[in-house]
Amino acid sequence: MTDPIPGVRITRDADLRGLNTFGVDVRAAWLVEVDDASRLADVFAIEPVAGSTPLVLGGGSNVLFVGAPGDPVLRLTGTAIDVLADDGDTVQLRVDAGVEWHTLVMRAIEEGLSGLENLALIPGTVGAAPIQNIGAYGVEVRELIDAVHAFEPATGRHVRMSNTDCAFAYRDSVFKHAPSRYIVTAVEFRLRRGGAPNLGYAGIADELAARGIESPTVRDVADAVIAIRRRKLPDPAVIGNAGSFFKNPIVPADVADTLLAANPRLPVFAAGDGLRKLSAAWLIDNASLRGYRDGDAGVSPGHALVLVNHGGASGADLLRVARHVAATVLNRFGVALEPEPRLIGATWAQ
Ligand code: EPU
Repeated sequence: MTDPIPGVRITRDADLRGLNTFGVDVRAAWLVEVDDASRLADVFAIEPVAGSTPLVLGGGSNVLFVGAPGDPVLRLTGTAIDVLADDGDTVQLRVDAGVEWHTLVMRAIEEGLSGLENLALIPGTVGAAPIQNIGAYGVEVRELIDAVHAFEPATGRHVRMSNTDCAFAYRDSVFKHAPSRYIVTAVEFRLRRGGAPNLGYAGIADELAARGIESPTVRDVADAVIAIRRRKLPDPAVIGNAGSFFKNPIVPADVADTLLAANPRLPVFAAGDGLRKLSAAWLIDNASLRGYRDGDAGVSPGHALVLVNHGGASGADLLRVARHVAATVLNRFGVALEPEPRLIGATWAQ
């Protein structure tokens, strides 16, 4: 097939196994890959995208295909990283949605820029990062984002949204609430040259101490994060998974207090006014579900928050395990769990 627009590739009946980190066997009627996001208005004017609500995929690391997508799958494949401003202390970068997240983190570290190191080794692309406000080891990406560039199919406009416009919250943003309204095309980051590393998360300080590092550099912190992640979290290239499958539940403080009285070891964190965040991994683990398996779908033996595909699990198999986990935790602790990845072809509420 000839390319209807330069830099746009359209594939019919595309295999999505390599485009979702669960490794679920699913096909898309159409896969549309776009190098230059400034051409999106043209892409939305042609078949098969015109009149559709495409499913935008980044690295496919936050999606569970329970069924095949009904609309075309769209991927942005631009990988530019541009310096917008550099005053010696602070550097402003504009990064295309298609850049691999970890590639950006490593590039920043090589350039002596700090801020992203605690987010090393998170799978996925830069375009997906603001959607669920990725976070790990004491840092959320919203702290580093100046603005998000997006295309709005309904109006055909490209918009630049400020950090405030993005309405970031724990694993949440305006993009997550209106998944078809915006297509994230690039992200602007504000990073510091030689800023102090963020060591607030106990696991990092422990890892650095174990390595005998007293004055850690940004690279030391990234190395510590990478080591912790490799130890705890299964590698999607080896065993299919989408990182944490459930969000850590946020509950009223009195609910947390009651749970804590009965379960003194339950990790509980402050989460704003009168609210507490509970460790979903602990709840699942203490409902004896770590390592649980139903056919090829299961809970990771290494981390209770991660669902894994041991080989041939379908999306429906994984969803069945997720529902079993949530029902067991609800029954045992009275706490409702919500999935973090986007479900395609199913809804969580039954
Ligand atoms: N825990 C258990 N059993 C387990 C694993 C953990 O009881 O199998 C308990 C431990 O007490 C541990 C606590 O849970 O101290 C917290 O575990 P961890 O430090 O791994 O953090 P998490 O709350 O489970 C969150 C993010 C991760 C992120 C880590 C580190 C969410 C949904 N998940 O997990 O993000 O890497 O913190 O900051 O907020 C992801 O979103 O895909 C992801 C991996």
